[in-house]
Amino acid sequence: MVDAVNLGENEMNRSAHNFSKRYGPAALVTGASDGIGAALATELAARGLNLIITARRADRLEALATSLRSDHGVEVLVVPVDLGINQGPDNLVDATSGQDIGLYVACAGFGTAGRFIDNSASEELNMIDVNCHAMTAVLHPLARQMAARRRGGIILMSSIVAFQGVGNSANYAATKAYVQTLAEGLAAELTSSGVDVLASAPGPVETGFATRADMQMGGAATPQTIAKATLQALGRTVTTRPGAQSKMLGYSLAMLPRRLRSRILGQIMQGMTKHRDANKEKTTA
Ligand SMILES: NC(=O)c1ccc[n+]([C@@H]2O[C@H](COP(=O)([O-])OP(=O)(O)OC[C@H]3O[C@@H](n4cnc5c(N)ncnc54)[C@H](OP(=O)(O)O)[C@@H]3O)[C@@H](O)[C@H]2O)c1
Repeated sequence: MVDAVNLGENEMNRSAHNFSKRYGPAALVTGASDGIGAALATELAARGLNLIITARRADRLEALATSLRSDHGVEVLVVPVDLGINQGPDNLVDATSGQDIGLYVACAGFGTAGRFIDNSASEELNMIDVNCHAMTAVLHPLARQMAARRRGGIILMSSIVAFQGVGNSANYAATKAYVQTLAEGLAAELTSSGVDVLASAPGPVETGFATRADMQMGGAATPQTIAKATLQALGRTVTTRPGAQSKMLGYSLAMLPRRLRSRILGQIMQGMTKHRDANKEKTTA
């Protein structure tokens, strides 16, 4: 029994060592103050990677850094940055330029729900800035560095909505289509340089995402489940659909024409924002 436990531990240590050799010594995780980014940072620390964690909420980043240092003995650098403002991506690139980053995990992002024309134009444009522009601005120098040293990993957060247009989430789905397409193309360009590129496309996940978008999600996966499944897929495939709901929905929708997929996901999105109509009725009554 004791031998079996030791064997299991040895196996885990060996695979953490291999992971760290391939993607270490440090990982940059954006969007690490909450949800999937925080869960991925925790999983990476458990595999022995040093971390650079970033988002806007410095207090949450500091609290995570303190617990990762004490639980896993790794080094953690906290870089608070707003990726949705002009100088944000450049500030992050400058702050991390001396670091030996072998893994870039791009989790910073947000969505809106409801009709595009009913939402604020500035928020919709800010979403493109954070989800697409900033993610790409930080990616470019890191991908170059990794390709030059012929080793590294890139994880981009896509979504189940990335594979077709989706009503009530039109602009968010479009930003994720950009992320998904970029990951697929980059994987084709960088695999021969020893850089693994992964698009992780979950369905609903229990994070701060739904609160910010004022959506109600049913049967959402935990961020820990998504983080573990995402890291398992790195280096094995180009697109992963972590979580049971994403797998089930993704594979059943994949058989349908794009137009029908659009309609079904649009209806699901509408269901997630139904409570808003009820709230509106309450305020006008
Ligand atoms: N939750 C889902 O159902 C779901 C499904 C599929 C894909 N995804 C994708 O997964 C990724 C992570 O989302 P999540 O679910 O973990 O949501 P979350 O809990 O809301 O986390 C989003 C992270 O992005 C950061 N962020 C947002 N705006 C930022 C800005 N302007 N500058 C810097 N950082 C910013 C947030 O930090 P601060 O607020 O501290 O800045 C937070 O750390 C996103 O790309 C999302 O599109 C989520």
